[in-house]
Formats: sequence, structure tokens, C-alpha cells
Amino acid sequence: MENVITFAHNIIKEYITKESLTIDATVGNGYDTVFLAKHAKHVFGFDIQQDALDNTLARCQKEQLDNVTLFLTSHEHIKDYLDQPIDACVFNLGYLPKGNKDITTKATSTITAINDVLPLISVKGVITITIYIGHEEGKQEQKQLEEFFLSLDSSLYTVVRYQHINRPDAPYTVCIQKR
Ligand SMILES: C[S@@+](CC[C@H](N)C(=O)[O-])C[C@H]1O[C@@H](n2cnc3c(N)ncnc32)[C@H](O)[C@@H]1O
Repeated sequence: MENVITFAHNIIKEYITKESLTIDATVGNGYDTVFLAKHAKHVFGFDIQQDALDNTLARCQKEQLDNVTLFLTSHEHIKDYLDQPIDACVFNLGYLPKGNKDITTKATSTITAINDVLPLISVKGVITITIYIGHEEGKQEQKQLEEFFLSLDSSLYTVVRYQHINRPDAPYTVCIQKR
């Protein structure tokens, strides 16, 4: 059985090509960025921590990937930087593993960012959101995100969830696809 990250990657792989422009909205340690860079034409990556950008750049250089542009800014400003059609966008929420746990994604900015990315997403394009609910901020974020997902018009978007049923605090992935 796939873990939630592999699930997100496998869904994305179905809908991107070597011509695709993609976004990593939370680059962190760069695993998702490297995955996207290997399968797409270009990745635009965002994070609010210089450490995250440094880790991601180092990982890309090790893999000899130069099709990545990184921005040291919150993903709530994505629309100030991008207006091109995007085939996939990854949100891997929470805090930087082994980093400062107080620097974590927050519901309001996450929802602003998803709302701003939705118009850029091409038909059949996808946004994956992996949500970590093992910490208090994550639980708050989950509550507001779930309300937001419910509000998405089902004639415009398919919204699915991949979740462990018998591990209630485990992270899970929601995938939004434009119809
Ligand atoms: C779980 S980590 C991401 C893991 C990463 N995708 C990887 O493959 O290693 C979450 C990241 O979100 C970042 N973050 C928190 N708030 C953010 C915001 N408003 N905009 C962009 N990144 C943010 C954190 O700094 C942290 O690096």
C-alpha cells in the first residue's frame, strides 16, 4: 500500500508531462521538488525559510536538476509571481522536519494559496494537499481546509481523499482535479 506522499506523486505523474509547469508550494527539504523536476518541464518552489530553500537547492544540484526556480516567500503570494498554466501543484503542509516546529503552515494562508492556484491549474491538472494532524496547528488547519474542500463546486472540481481509516492521527492527502 502506498504512503500518502507516494500516493500524491503517483496521481501527479498521471497528469504531467515533460512540457508541464508545476509548483511546489512548500519546498521543505526538497523531496517533492526533485520529484516534480524529474517529471516536468519546470518547478516553481516556495518556502518561507532560507534553510528550506538551501536544502532544496542542494538536493536539486546533487540530482543535476536545473529546471527549478525557488522563491523565499509565502505561498499566499504565488499569484504575484506566476500567471502561466500549471499542470500540478503540491502542498506538503506542516513544519520542516528537524526544523523549527513553530514555523508551520497555517489555514488562512494555505487556503489563500490554493484559491489563487486554482485559476492557474489547467483542465485535468491537479493540486495535492498532504495534511499533518498530529500537532495542534495541523488540527486547526485541517478543520478549515475540510470546510474549504466541501465548498468547492463539484461541477468544476473533483476532490478525493486518501487516508488511513484505523490511524486517525496519520497524515492524509487530498487531491483536487480541475474538470
Ligand atoms: C512538511 S515541510 C515540506 C516538505 C517538502 N515538500 C519536502 O519534500 O521535503 C513544510 C514546509 O512548509 C513551509 N511553510 C510554512 N508556511 C509556509 C508558507 N506560508 N508558505 C510557504 N511555505 C511555508 C515550512 O517552512 C516547511 O519547510
